[in-house]
Amino acid sequence: MIKTRQELIKKYLEFFKSKNHKEIPNASLIPENDSTVLFTTAGMHPLIPYLLGQKHPLGKRLVNVQKCIRTTDIEEVGDATHHTFFEMLGNWSLGDYFKQEAIEMSLEFFTKELKIPKEQISVTCFKGDSHIPKDTESEKIWKSLGINKIKSLGKKDNWWGPAGETGPCGPDTEMFINKIEIWNDVFMEYNKDSKGKYTKLKQQNVDTGMGVERTLAILQKKNDNYLTEIWQPIIQEIENLSGKKYSKNKKEIRIIADHIKAAVFILAEGIKPSNTEQGYVLRRLIRRAIRYGKLLEIKKQFTSEIAKPVFKIYPDYKELTQNKEFIQSELKKEEEKFDKTLEKGINKFNKMSKNKNISGKDGFLLFQSYGFPIEITQELAEEKNIKVDVKSYEQELKKHQELSRTAQKGKFKSGLADESEKTTRLHTAAHLLLTALKKVLKKNIEQKGSNINPERLRFDFNSNRKLTKEEIKKIEDEVNNIIKKAIPVIKEEMPLKQAYKQGAQGTFRAKYPKIVSVYTIGNFSKEICTGPHVKNTKEIGKFKIVKEQSSSAGVRRIKGIVE
Ligand code: ALA
Repeated sequence: MIKTRQELIKKYLEFFKSKNHKEIPNASLIPENDSTVLFTTAGMHPLIPYLLGQKHPLGKRLVNVQKCIRTTDIEEVGDATHHTFFEMLGNWSLGDYFKQEAIEMSLEFFTKELKIPKEQISVTCFKGDSHIPKDTESEKIWKSLGINKIKSLGKKDNWWGPAGETGPCGPDTEMFINKIEIWNDVFMEYNKDSKGKYTKLKQQNVDTGMGVERTLAILQKKNDNYLTEIWQPIIQEIENLSGKKYSKNKKEIRIIADHIKAAVFILAEGIKPSNTEQGYVLRRLIRRAIRYGKLLEIKKQFTSEIAKPVFKIYPDYKELTQNKEFIQSELKKEEEKFDKTLEKGINKFNKMSKNKNISGKDGFLLFQSYGFPIEITQELAEEKNIKVDVKSYEQELKKHQELSRTAQKGKFKSGLADESEKTTRLHTAAHLLLTALKKVLKKNIEQKGSNINPERLRFDFNSNRKLTKEEIKKIEDEVNNIIKKAIPVIKEEMPLKQAYKQGAQGTFRAKYPKIVSVYTIGNFSKEICTGPHVKNTKEIGKFKIVKEQSSSAGVRRIKGIVE
């Protein structure tokens, strides 16, 4: 029997490698060059350009295990099977095999490798709607393989994607063991555009996802994911600190365990708690865990204690051990901060809530002055049987700063890489910006992150001080001079080693596969990158820096546009 997550992961990777799949890296939780999404939410995320038709350097059959964060389910966390952080096993066909082979391989893995009897397996297929026909083919394949428990369901159940507003998607067939869904084969042959229209993609892809946590629980015949080795050490720590038993306080203990584990993984990416974007999600997770800790009457600081077992459960994630001190100290800092306002905030809430519902303005005051994320206010309200006017809270929020802009764009949901012409121009401009920064600032400038959407590029780099007006002008001029020279942008695929040998730049956070794409712009720039890029620098237009500000300690941020 499979006992550990590492055994399950190994089995899966080995199985698909034996079927000619190449393993791709477990990518960062923070998507590279994707402005419409805060976190990697599925294994397919880093593969979007390839599902749309770009050639992948490792070929058409891929496999990996991917760390993921999903925050849309935050309120569902607390039950036996939903987690904010989870690992997804996945195999992909990029225009290679389709339904027949995908289903055959899934069933073979279940029965031969995991030794699950066919009688325990049931599946669902897409029943069709007014746009897309019923998936009779998948149904036939399952039947021919001896699986007879088949249900046909609609879009809500048997359709997956796009990950954001637009992009690759398709009907799926979901696999259940004893009625618990653990694997999903998506047949991605459609693209959804911004008008909501579905068109066929250039190629028929397969995108699959199997949840490590659920599968492990099933294999060990446990009806609660939290009873497996992926959770137990954390739960025991919470039991020790609180003196309360898991069996009597499941919801609270699950939420604390889930949120702290997710927080550890987000912190490991170098993100700090803040009021914007990923930092805000992180803050919400830590603060919600703290509040539940108070409900369990944990008296002392506890988040950094509960983080300790997480490092032991995941020894294969080097980013955890490498950033252990940072993670621990950020948890402590955030807990200290929230401890200072939590009690006062609850007193304030109690006053506000005397016989009445909580208005949007009150909700916003609790957020701004006491650091209460809205879900904490909602939960407090629920306990008193009153309501929070979330709509007007959001309107209040919209009036304020960047956080509102993030929320407006729906980025707390999910999204995907955008390949519009404007984004493409900005992508190439970002490469030239790095070159220009190096030239003008004459020191070891490194890219610390980038984020591009059709409106602007955002580029983070290491520096301790503000740029002067003159420097900004010089940097713009450097970029615009290269643009004017009309230099071709050349894309080549090569082994990672060779790319480094040739002096190609990579970004600090990325983990690269063995074969990579390198984009070269004359003598000015050579970067490992998935693109997309313009063919010639003259397509970029005029580059302008619109903002230069601090991003975090030792990191500056530039916002730039092209006209
Ligand atoms: N991308 C698919 C999912 O997340 C496999 O379920």
